[in-house]
Amino acid sequence: MNFTGVSGQLQFDLEKNLIQPAYDVLNIGGTGFRKIGYWSNSSGLSTTEPETLYGKSFNTSTRTPHLYSVIWPGETIATPRGWVFPNNGRPLRIAVPERVSYKDFVSKDKSPPGVRGYCIDIFEAAINLLPYPVPRTYMLYGDGKRNPQYTDLVGQVALNNFDAAVGDVTITTNRTRMVDFTQPYMESGLVVVVPVKQVKSNPWAFLKPFTIEMWLVTGAFFLLVGVVVWILEHRINHEFRGPPREQLMTIFWFSFSTMFFSHRENTVSTLGRLVLIIWLFVVLIINSSYTASLTSILTVQQLTSRIEGIDSLISSNDPIGVQDGSFSWKYLVNELNIAESRLVTLKTMEDYIKALQDGPKRGGVAAIVDELPYIELFMSATKCAFRTVGQEFTKSGWGFAFQRDSPLAVDLSTAILQLSENGDLQKIHNKWLRSSECSMQLNEMDADRLSLTSFWGLFLICGIACFIALAVFFCRILLQYRRFSPETVEGDVEEIELPPRSGRRSLRTASFKNLMDFVDKKEIEIKHMLKRKSSDNKQEASPSSDGKSHSPS
Ligand code: GLY
Repeated sequence: MNFTGVSGQLQFDLEKNLIQPAYDVLNIGGTGFRKIGYWSNSSGLSTTEPETLYGKSFNTSTRTPHLYSVIWPGETIATPRGWVFPNNGRPLRIAVPERVSYKDFVSKDKSPPGVRGYCIDIFEAAINLLPYPVPRTYMLYGDGKRNPQYTDLVGQVALNNFDAAVGDVTITTNRTRMVDFTQPYMESGLVVVVPVKQVKSNPWAFLKPFTIEMWLVTGAFFLLVGVVVWILEHRINHEFRGPPREQLMTIFWFSFSTMFFSHRENTVSTLGRLVLIIWLFVVLIINSSYTASLTSILTVQQLTSRIEGIDSLISSNDPIGVQDGSFSWKYLVNELNIAESRLVTLKTMEDYIKALQDGPKRGGVAAIVDELPYIELFMSATKCAFRTVGQEFTKSGWGFAFQRDSPLAVDLSTAILQLSENGDLQKIHNKWLRSSECSMQLNEMDADRLSLTSFWGLFLICGIACFIALAVFFCRILLQYRRFSPETVEGDVEEIELPPRSGRRSLRTASFKNLMDFVDKKEIEIKHMLKRKSSDNKQEASPSSDGKSHSPS
C-alpha cells in the first residue's frame, strides 16, 4: 500500500510494517492540547520534524530524548513524583527553633521558606531524596529573644501541635519516649570548655625542657666523661698533662665544651676516642631533644584553671555555664547530681566569653558544658582562646523529630544515610560550618618535660663504654706494672723505704702510691724503662760470654 491519508503519507512493506512511522507528541490538558515534539523510528523523541532527519545517519541510543516542557495538571512544569504524602490534605507543620546564638545551625530568614541554616539544608536535601513530595510549611518556635527550650519543642510535636521538629535537636532518652527521631545527621556530645592563656616569658624557661633528675644526670655524665677521657689520655697526650690545677681545669673545660662539639684538646688513645665518639652521639641526641622541647614549651598554651575534665568540675564548687534552652542543664542536674545553684544559663556567644574571662571570682564561671558542634564554632570564633579539657563525656547526635510511628521518620533516616554515603552531608557541613583549627586537647606542662625515662638507654651505653675503656686501660697498666718492680726502677721511680715496724697497712699504702706514680708516668717513659729492664735482664742471664759477672744496677 502506498497512499496519502489524513495523517499524511502511509506506506507498508511486504511484512506489513509501516515504513518510516512518525508521530506528533501532544501535551493534552483539559480540552486543549500542545505539540511538544515528535517521535520517529529513526530519531526517537525529538523537537525536530522527522521528515527533515530522513537520510541523515545518527545514533539514537546516545541521544537524550528532547521535548518541549510538559505542563502538568495544576499548571506546573515540575514533574510529579507520584502520590503526595498524605497529611489530611494539609502541608506538614514543621517546627523550627528560633535560635539567638549559633545561628548558622538554624535561624529565621526573611525570604521563603522563612528559615535557613545547616539543619534546614540537610532536611531539604533529605526530603528531596524521598520518592514522593512532602508539602511542608516551616513554623518558628521561640520568642526570638532567647533560645527556646528544646525539650518543650519536642513535647509540642508529641502533643500534635506540630508534625515534626527540624533543627539542632539532640536525641536524648527522654525525648525518644515522646517522639520518633530519624538517624542522627550530626554527631554530638557534651564537652567541658575552659579558658587558656599564652605562657608568659619566664627567665627560667630554658630549664623547663628537662626534669631535675635529667639535668643532674646529664651534668654528672659530662664530668664523668671528662674524667674518663683524662685518665685514658693522661699517659700519652701532653695536652692532658701539667700541674694538678691545670689538669682539673682541662677536665672541666674539655667535658663541657663537648656540649657544643667545640673541644680543642686532641684525643689520641683508641679507648679515649671510643668513649668520646659515643659521648658525642649522646650529646647530639640530648641537644636536639632540648631544642625541640624548648620550642614546644615556649609556644604552648597553658590552662588557667585547675579544671581538667568533667570529674574535677563536678568535685569543685565553682559555677558552670550551660547553653540556654539546651538539654545539658537537666543532664547535669539529674544525671551528674550537680546542684542547680551552680548552673548559669548563657544566651549568646558574648555571654560565653564574658563568663569564662571573668571566672568564678568575678561572677563568671569556671567552665562551660556544651555540645561539641557549638563549641567548635565558639573556639573558631574566639581564635582558640578557650579549649576543651578531658574527653567528650556523652555521645549522641542531632536528628529530626516526628510524631510517633510517622513513616517519614523511617524514610528520612534512609535519605540521611544516602546523603552521608554520597558525601552531600559533608558538603553541607563545609558550606555552613568551619572546622575548629584549635587543637582540641591541652596537655599539662609536665607531660612535655623530657625525663630520664627517655634517655637512660643512651646514658647506659655511654656508661658501659666508659667502664669497658677504663677496665681495658687498667688491665694494661697492671700488666705493665707487674713487669715492673720498684727496686728495678731506681732513679726513675722513687724507691720506697719501708720503716721496719710498719705494718701491712703502710705496705699497702706504699704499693698504692707506687702504682699511682707509675700510672702518672708518661707511657713513653715506662716503655723506655721496660726496654732497658729487659736488656739488663738479658745481660744478667748470659754473664759467661766474657767470663765476667754483672753487678746489679
Ligand atoms: N541541641 C540542644 C538540645 O537539643 O537541647
